[in-house]
Amino acid sequence: MRTKELRVYLEGKPIGTLREDKNGKHSFLYDQGTKGQLSLSMPRQLEPWTGKPVEAYIDGVLPDDRTMRQRIGRLYDVSTNNPFALLASIGLDCAGGVQFVSSENLNLLEKAEMLQPISEKEIGIRLTDLAKDAPTTWQGPNEHWSLNGAQGKIALRQKNNQWFEALGAAVTTHILKPGVSQLHEQAFDEYICMKTLEKLDVSVSESTFQSFSGTPAIISTRWDRRQRVDADGQTHITRIHQEDLCQAMSYMTRQKYQSDGGPSANSIIDFLHANAFAETDILQFAIGLMLNFLIGGTDAHAKNYAILEPVGEAPRFAPFYDIASIFAYDARGDRKGERKMAMSIGGEYHYERIGLRHWLRLCQDTKLDAELVAALLKHYAEILPDAFADAAKAALADAAGLDIAPESRTTPNGSSAGERQELVNRIGAGIKRQCDAVLGW
Ligand SMILES: Nc1ncnc2c1ncn2[C@@H]1O[C@H](COP(=O)(O)OP(=O)(O)OP(=O)(O)O)[C@@H](O)[C@H]1O
Ligand SMILES: [Mg+2]
Repeated sequence: MRTKELRVYLEGKPIGTLREDKNGKHSFLYDQGTKGQLSLSMPRQLEPWTGKPVEAYIDGVLPDDRTMRQRIGRLYDVSTNNPFALLASIGLDCAGGVQFVSSENLNLLEKAEMLQPISEKEIGIRLTDLAKDAPTTWQGPNEHWSLNGAQGKIALRQKNNQWFEALGAAVTTHILKPGVSQLHEQAFDEYICMKTLEKLDVSVSESTFQSFSGTPAIISTRWDRRQRVDADGQTHITRIHQEDLCQAMSYMTRQKYQSDGGPSANSIIDFLHANAFAETDILQFAIGLMLNFLIGGTDAHAKNYAILEPVGEAPRFAPFYDIASIFAYDARGDRKGERKMAMSIGGEYHYERIGLRHWLRLCQDTKLDAELVAALLKHYAEILPDAFADAAKAALADAAGLDIAPESRTTPNGSSAGERQELVNRIGAGIKRQCDAVLGW
């Protein structure tokens, strides 16, 4: 019989039950006497939550791509179109502190963590398959983790400098992405952007760039995990709850872009105000908008911003993640008119056309402090080109030392040091152009 109920755990403790009725509709009911909430869209209440908040939340836990969902469905012999069935299969380690546990899997929570060592060579094989869009799933047969997003990725555990597959309900600590296969050196682009942001004194996820037996990948340390050392000296990794802005605001993944009916910058800021976020959190989101604008981060949709919601603590804006520059592929602006930001600023989507008046309109509409926003834009426009130059220099040195196999390169010519330098030059030129424009306002 198909599972109709999943127990839901938050940060390791039961919090409620997710149910599916005979029409395929889902509901979520909090257990009384428990702590924490699944989503800002589902505050604690005695009645079950149904409809949009539940559907958007569970949809948002799974990979975006239909094909990927189909492959996972085939692997576990469950219906692809049913997020509930997919979560029953891969919902044991998700973004944030949530776990979806079927009655058959309840025993996995009691067991000691099952960690299976995986060699760099084996990781390389998995990453190469993802980079080449081979018909594979992101998860191996006994891994039950789930992450959203369009790009191929693997979540692994790192312990004492050794990589492990997290089997059963084990916790993953890192996310590895080989980059978008159609965009040359996209993982390297993301890596330089993340390292640039690290230099700006903003909260951003930590990343490294590594080659796994010839296949390069960006490795992101999960900020929704923390380490706890017990009195007996044993180290444990625990989960911290998070959700992305589509989940928090009840938008399905297919609506992650504003132009597809998803959240806009204005509606996000209104949402943060309505949920009593601190001004510093709202400013952090605004800084995210500014940095994405200056760095050419055109893919900064509502699933690329998140909220950390540790049980027992006030929610706060999560570190920035998944930022890459379109300037790597379009530095000369020769596709003007086609390149849009994922969210419009003051009603304008095109990064070349966004001017001070658009930022001021955003401030006017959202009660952001216009003087502060104008000053911050100038401040970041002043420091970003140098931060990028420093980050790029270090990143090029990192990449130069890596063994990158010709067959894992994503264009016929491969990626020589010279080509990587050209990519850096293109991004640098795009950032300089954006920053100079802002300094001229
Ligand atoms: N460092 C991190 N710590 C915790 N969670 C993370 C981290 N990086 C990514 N995530 C989570 O994993 C999800 C997928 O990661 P990411 O956005 O990098 O994937 P993607 O496939 O590149 O996304 P997109 O579809 O936007 O291209 C994020 O939406 C977020 O929920
Ligand atoms: Mg993303």
